[in-house]
Amino acid sequence: MEQHWWQEVVVYQVYPRSFYDSDGDGIGDLKGIIAKLDYLAKLGIGAIWLSPVYASPNDDNGYDISDYQRIMSEFGTMAEMDLLIQEAKKRQIEIVMDLVVNHTSDEHAWFVEAKENPDSLYRDYYVWSDPAKDGGVPNGLTSNFSGSAWTLDEASGQYYLHLFSKKQPDLNWQNPQLRNEIYTMMNYWIDKGIGGFRMDVIDLIGKIPEAEITNNGPKLHEYLQEMNQATFGDKDLLTVGETWGATPEIAKLYSDPKRHELSMVFQFEHVMLDQEAGKSKWDWTPLKINELKHALARWQTELGEEGWNSLFWENHDLPRVISRWGNDREYREESAKLFAIILHMMKGTPYIYQGEEIGMTNSPVTDISQVKDIESINLYYERLAQGYDKETIIAAINRKGRDNARTPMQWSADVNGGFTSGTPWLKVNPNYQTINVEQALTDENSIFYTYQKLIALRKDHPLMIWGDFELLETTDKIFAYLRRYQGETWLVVGNFSDDKQTLDLGQYAVRKTIIHNYPEIITSLARELRPWEAFVTVVEANDDRK
Ligand code: GLC
Repeated sequence: MEQHWWQEVVVYQVYPRSFYDSDGDGIGDLKGIIAKLDYLAKLGIGAIWLSPVYASPNDDNGYDISDYQRIMSEFGTMAEMDLLIQEAKKRQIEIVMDLVVNHTSDEHAWFVEAKENPDSLYRDYYVWSDPAKDGGVPNGLTSNFSGSAWTLDEASGQYYLHLFSKKQPDLNWQNPQLRNEIYTMMNYWIDKGIGGFRMDVIDLIGKIPEAEITNNGPKLHEYLQEMNQATFGDKDLLTVGETWGATPEIAKLYSDPKRHELSMVFQFEHVMLDQEAGKSKWDWTPLKINELKHALARWQTELGEEGWNSLFWENHDLPRVISRWGNDREYREESAKLFAIILHMMKGTPYIYQGEEIGMTNSPVTDISQVKDIESINLYYERLAQGYDKETIIAAINRKGRDNARTPMQWSADVNGGFTSGTPWLKVNPNYQTINVEQALTDENSIFYTYQKLIALRKDHPLMIWGDFELLETTDKIFAYLRRYQGETWLVVGNFSDDKQTLDLGQYAVRKTIIHNYPEIITSLARELRPWEAFVTVVEANDDRK
């Protein structure tokens, strides 16, 4: 397989609204990101996935774009955006823009025109439908943010489609002129020198609404091949699709280099393991570690040479991993380091979500008035109407709600965690006095330095990038695997539990300890693992020594 820079780097996701506020309005901004580039360079990352910074009325925090070629006024100006791209480059960091083209804001000029003037050519940029025979919604499609996916436009008597909020009308990718406008806009950003695109819910663009087909529609890959040719195809950019509906087979369609679509996709199989089968993310069931490791291992081995993995535990839509699957109390440090080690040692491009590198935790609420995220707010009222009690809904929101990951970055023990001198748009997690960047940087054993070390190791050891993967049979709570490259073998082990576990891998001899989340050197692989213990060692099969 040809080798690319985007396979070698570690990517860091910035959620600008919550990263760093430079002007005291309580909202993070571009200048704030520029101010923290040295911090990110110290961590060692090679790219930033920047959540949307475009003009937006913020119904869904920037995922509802009203102008793709303007910067949201709270975030700054286009000149500052250009400066961010340049300043990042100086530090060998590429900027990967969030590309949200399944839908726009209802305040985008195209939609305003489409609505006001049904005869305009913009009408067909969106998806319209006459009412059903009974006068109601055209069909049973539902929005990811609760309720029907159809809203009536009273003036024309037609419904428009929105797979997210009412203020996020879906674009009609069947219209070639719309597709061309998108490609022109992408080229505008490419010409600015960005490093690539993260493509929001890209598996929805091939939708056939009248047939109630949303993801993986028949023309999806045709559109992506067309996009590739019209935009980034002749450049070596990082392109990563958000694809909730991907299996390994589907992932190869996107990322097999021979097909000229994307570099890689975010797959969500592991993310959905703690929800009841056939239900939504809000219907929780405990994670089985055995399922987690087998799901991840399957992705590791099945893509082979026909695709590339992205590796992540967190993003702005998911709860904090140590609160979700680790132990964010007595083993916060150990479990955070375990998740870091297990993820970064797998094959694929690792992504770190802001705050993950200092072990930030979920931030529970007691009442819906404290929630800012439209998805959780809509869910709350939908479930109340369905007869759920408040406590149950709030508990579900505390477990899975998106605000958990969106609380402001904790920079120091100062007021508001040093995020802003004003009033933060979302309350800072009260644990900022103990969990913050300043503290992490002064403690040489902090979670931060584990991430820093993993990134540095990646730069020195091609094995981490290119090595083969093999899952080892162990007891349920232990995840152990080998990576092999050019005659060298690394063993990666993690105990995903609060209890001691017996590791029984005496068939391997330790040559060297690479990294460990407890202080001492590893000598034997037939040993007792402590809670959330994780390490990597260079090994040889004992037989090899004969
Ligand atoms: C993606 C984004 C999410 C957003 C949604 C609609 O899932 O990650 O934050 O709400 O798309 O754009």
